Amino acid sequence: MKTPRVVIFKKTKRLFLRPLQLMDHENWAQAYSSMHAPQNEWDETNWLDSELSLKKFKEHLKKHQAWQNEDHFYQFGVFRKDDGLLIGFINLMDISRGLFQNAYLGYRIYNNHWGQGYAKEACQAAVEIAFKNLKLHRIEAGIEPTNKRSIRVAKAIGLRKEGLSPRRLLLRNKWIDLVLYAATSEEFGLKWKNPKK
Ligand SMILES: CC(C)(COP(=O)(O)OP(=O)(O)OC[C@H]1O[C@@H](n2cnc3c(N)ncnc32)[C@H](O)[C@@H]1OP(=O)(O)O)[C@@H](O)C(=O)NCCC(=O)NCCS
Repeated sequence: MKTPRVVIFKKTKRLFLRPLQLMDHENWAQAYSSMHAPQNEWDETNWLDSELSLKKFKEHLKKHQAWQNEDHFYQFGVFRKDDGLLIGFINLMDISRGLFQNAYLGYRIYNNHWGQGYAKEACQAAVEIAFKNLKLHRIEAGIEPTNKRSIRVAKAIGLRKEGLSPRRLLLRNKWIDLVLYAATSEEFGLKWKNPKK
């Protein structure tokens, strides 16, 4: 039996998180064209206009909608409450149900909004989504050991260091080591309940 579809809208003090919709195209294109030059090796360059067209955005939405319907991958835009600006996104990726009930957590804040605690606030909401809405048991963030900023986010939201996983992912054409940070629902005071029951 498939896990039931869930519609998620989560508010925090300064932000709200929800899947992107067609009406977000301008906001999304603006976000990718107004970033500063990349600040470190994990940051993104501004996208070309051709990559930000409505056609490309529709393709992006279609792919993510399908993944969400399959309970495989959930992407949430991170929007600022006071002006509605899209400032980043959070991914709950490669969801395993069965005996694992795990998602991999990914996060990005566009670099013109760094250093204001937005990643921490958005990731805290994502943890709630993972455990309360999606009824997962475990989330894991795999972080390159030199990505100190991301490690601060993982620690700040209460993930526990599990250790180094050598040659974990193929990134930038090489197998890279990741430090794994993880938590289970019990660490957030939530007893796991089987979503299929
Ligand atoms: C990692 C990232 C999401 C952080 O976003 P952010 O909104 O700036 O993060 P926050 O403002 O919430 O800060 C998080 C922590 O980093 C700390 N921090 C800020 N600047 C820092 C710096 N230059 N070096 C190390 N830590 C820093 C903050 O003090 C905070 O820690 P604290 O809560 O212990 O004080 C953002 O830099 C980003 O998108 N990077 C590129 C993509 C990426 O690396 N994603 C993660 C892949 S694993």
